[in-house]
Amino acid sequence: MGGKVTPKDVSKPGFWESLYRAGRTAWDLGGPTPILQKWLRDNQGHGEKVCVLGAGNGHDAMAFAQAGYKVTAVDFAPTPSRQLADKAAAAKLSLTVLPIDLFQLPAKHSESFDLVLEYTTFCSIDPHQRDAFVATVTSILKTEGRLLALFFPMDQAADAGPPFGLSRDEIRERFEHYFHIVSEEWPEDSVPTRRLRELLVLMEKL
Ligand SMILES: C[S@@+](CC[C@H](N)C(=O)[O-])C[C@H]1O[C@@H](n2cnc3c(N)ncnc32)[C@H](O)[C@@H]1O
Repeated sequence: MGGKVTPKDVSKPGFWESLYRAGRTAWDLGGPTPILQKWLRDNQGHGEKVCVLGAGNGHDAMAFAQAGYKVTAVDFAPTPSRQLADKAAAAKLSLTVLPIDLFQLPAKHSESFDLVLEYTTFCSIDPHQRDAFVATVTSILKTEGRLLALFFPMDQAADAGPPFGLSRDEIRERFEHYFHIVSEEWPEDSVPTRRLRELLVLMEKL
């Protein structure tokens, strides 16, 4: 990410697809996020339905499926979506890939998930779409469903990106009408370049 990118660019699948094809995926940790792996150690799944929005190469989506969740991974970039579907099928995991725009999820997904996972997608969309993102998460979660979000980067403004930054105040303003914040934590075990720049928030839909 970086360079002279406009919010309009990031709304097009072709923008992300060309980065994946060129191997310019600086955001990709090459494996599951350690913070989410730690969360999974304490929160094994028992078939609960999880939606991973903007799953990318799907390391975290795979980790959730391996931990016992039934995963739906959404990403509108075709190449990582296809590769993730192949990896999940080879590993016989309960993981379905939807290679579509997260803002255009079909109505059948309404109120169907127990958990939504957000990591580095909220900072990748056009900041003007943030309320639409909150609306999407709210609409696909069951009542009392939860959003697990590792918000990044918390030390940057929203007007330069991607990644477009955010703040605790903004998170509260956008989500609090629809969610109760269950817990909030500045994790110690972020990868070095993201240390103290990301906030782990668990919220429950009202
Ligand atoms: C910075 S990458 C993060 C990928 C993954 N979450 C990770 O941590 O590696 C952002 C991802 O969101 C996807 N994305 C952005 N806007 C999207 C949209 N409107 N619908 C579906 N996917 C989207 C991009 O294709 C890209 O794979």
